[in-house]
Amino acid sequence: MAISFRLFVPRNTSQLTPLQKKHRRTMSNPWNARFGLGHSLRFDETESGLVVGRIESDLCTGRVFLQGAHIAEFQPFHSEHPVLFLSSQSLFAREKAIRGGVPICFPWFGAHPMDAGQPAHGLARIRNWELLETRIESGDIVLRMGLDLPPFAIRYSVRFGKSLRYCFEVTNRSSSQQTFELALHTYLRLGDVHRAVVMGLEQVPFLDQLTGQVHSARGIPIRFTEETDRIYQGAAKMIVVEDPVYRRRVMLQSSDSQSTIVWNPWIAKSKRMADFGDDEYLTMCCIETANVRENRIEIGPEANHSTMVEVSVESMEKTT
Ligand code: BG6
Repeated sequence: MAISFRLFVPRNTSQLTPLQKKHRRTMSNPWNARFGLGHSLRFDETESGLVVGRIESDLCTGRVFLQGAHIAEFQPFHSEHPVLFLSSQSLFAREKAIRGGVPICFPWFGAHPMDAGQPAHGLARIRNWELLETRIESGDIVLRMGLDLPPFAIRYSVRFGKSLRYCFEVTNRSSSQQTFELALHTYLRLGDVHRAVVMGLEQVPFLDQLTGQVHSARGIPIRFTEETDRIYQGAAKMIVVEDPVYRRRVMLQSSDSQSTIVWNPWIAKSKRMADFGDDEYLTMCCIETANVRENRIEIGPEANHSTMVEVSVESMEKTT
């Protein structure tokens, strides 16, 4: 009697091991053929169907999701710790903002001004963006993404190198004047929030979003001792976050930003947020490069506006 053996190749993905599933998602991912850059940039799809680009170049590692054009990770090789904070509780789900990295708040900041049914911080961070181009430039990995949110057309260019650069460009495609708010909501990872010092906003007045009060410039650097949710109104081209625990300085250099939001949810709010760990407020703060409220942007027909941020990191030992 002849006995035949057949190799068991499961067709149904539910029969695959997690490793096989991951391999299949990477190999069959059409993004790699069109936009992959060898080992430096590979695309993968999460279980929930989100497309993610993973950067592993000679200069840094990083991660960017097409949903929200959301930079989720960045770590240059000269830095011992990741630069961006990413919550361990973040949902990586369709139409849900990722908690951490750099969400894009556009075309409104916070609650919608007229319609409470609209999502907080606008639509850009939960929409799927189109990937337009990837390239290697002087060793940096560059991704260009686009999104149409009528009447606006947006181009977002992200450059992963020794530093991380992101440039948000809006065009008004309508025949009338339009207004928008923008915040590039950067979550920074900290060794210990109690010991971090934020410099660069000493001369800028701010609105305390928790009390509704406007404060004149304090003249001193910011230290976190409680829930902090402030909109600073005035240009701050360079903000430096000193982190003595990680022994590093993180610098945020920006152009065309007239507002900066500084946020830390502290204890009670952290507990209320479902996608944020109860103690994670200890290891993060947000410095948001923005144009909001009285500094929202008005642009005429076919006009452009762009805002750029560069995040870099240096060791504190070097300069002290
Ligand atoms: C900040 C706001 O920009 O984002 C805070 O100033 C808000 O008020 C925070 O709580 C987080 O917002 P969300 O929508 O991501 O939970």
